[in-house]
Amino acid sequence: MIKINNLSKIFRTDLIETHALRQINLQVNEGEFAALTGPSGSGKSTLLNVLGTLESFDQGDYLLDGRSVKGLSDRELSALRNEKIGFIFQGFNLIKDFSLFDNIELPLRYRGFSAAERKRRVEHALETVGLAARRDYHPSQLSGGQQQRVAIARAIAGEPRILLADEPTGNLDSLMARQVMELLEKINQQGCTILMVTHDPDQARRANRHIQIVDGQLNDATLYEPLGYEPLTAAGA
Ligand SMILES: Nc1ncnc2c1ncn2[C@@H]1O[C@H](COP(=O)(O)OP(=O)(O)OP(=O)(O)O)[C@@H](O)[C@H]1O
Ligand SMILES: [Mg+2]
Repeated sequence: MIKINNLSKIFRTDLIETHALRQINLQVNEGEFAALTGPSGSGKSTLLNVLGTLESFDQGDYLLDGRSVKGLSDRELSALRNEKIGFIFQGFNLIKDFSLFDNIELPLRYRGFSAAERKRRVEHALETVGLAARRDYHPSQLSGGQQQRVAIARAIAGEPRILLADEPTGNLDSLMARQVMELLEKINQQGCTILMVTHDPDQARRANRHIQIVDGQLNDATLYEPLGYEPLTAAGA
């Protein structure tokens, strides 16, 4: 479960201070499929990066499965991230000289799984995204939608509890976008919590929750809280 309280993030350069996230409160429960929308520059990627522990924050608190990430070392953070979180980036971030199999396997190598366990996970992930027959292809031999599915396979091969997806259908035509959405819905039904950035109102409607961000602030008026959502309490913070 993701829980952030009063979280702020400021980017500082010599000339300008950008308040990318302003006192955000958010709880995402196990099993939710939440869509995050907002204008360009509103802080969507920043929020995802903070939640993915790829980026630090200036104020507030972030609890990942009840554990505060504040004060953790880089090593502890990456262990936590590798164990719990799968990331699908804006753009695919695939290694072009690697086969699909090797692309998906690489993060598993960092985690020290045995060769047999890596093989099991990669094959299962490739099957889930419907690309088992192409395991030895290189990314350049695939369509955009297929490459996006490889990026999803790489994220789910880690068997994360939480999947953070930054515009996973942003570069795709509508048919491929629909296939990727269906795939994410399937992964969610298997128990993985998903937070997905999208520009597409139809996709936001298909999620079970729609969170909007404008100028670094969550718009609580539009925050749909599904049944069972627990309001934030000071005691739980
Ligand atoms: N590394 C950085 N250094 C300085 N400012 C940054 C940095 N990353 C993001 N920003 C600023 O923070 C704000 C939020 O950026 P962010 O990338 O989160 O927006 P976004 O909602 O993902 O936009 P888009 O829809 O265009 O991807 C923007 O004003 C951006 O210029
Ligand atoms: Mg972005």
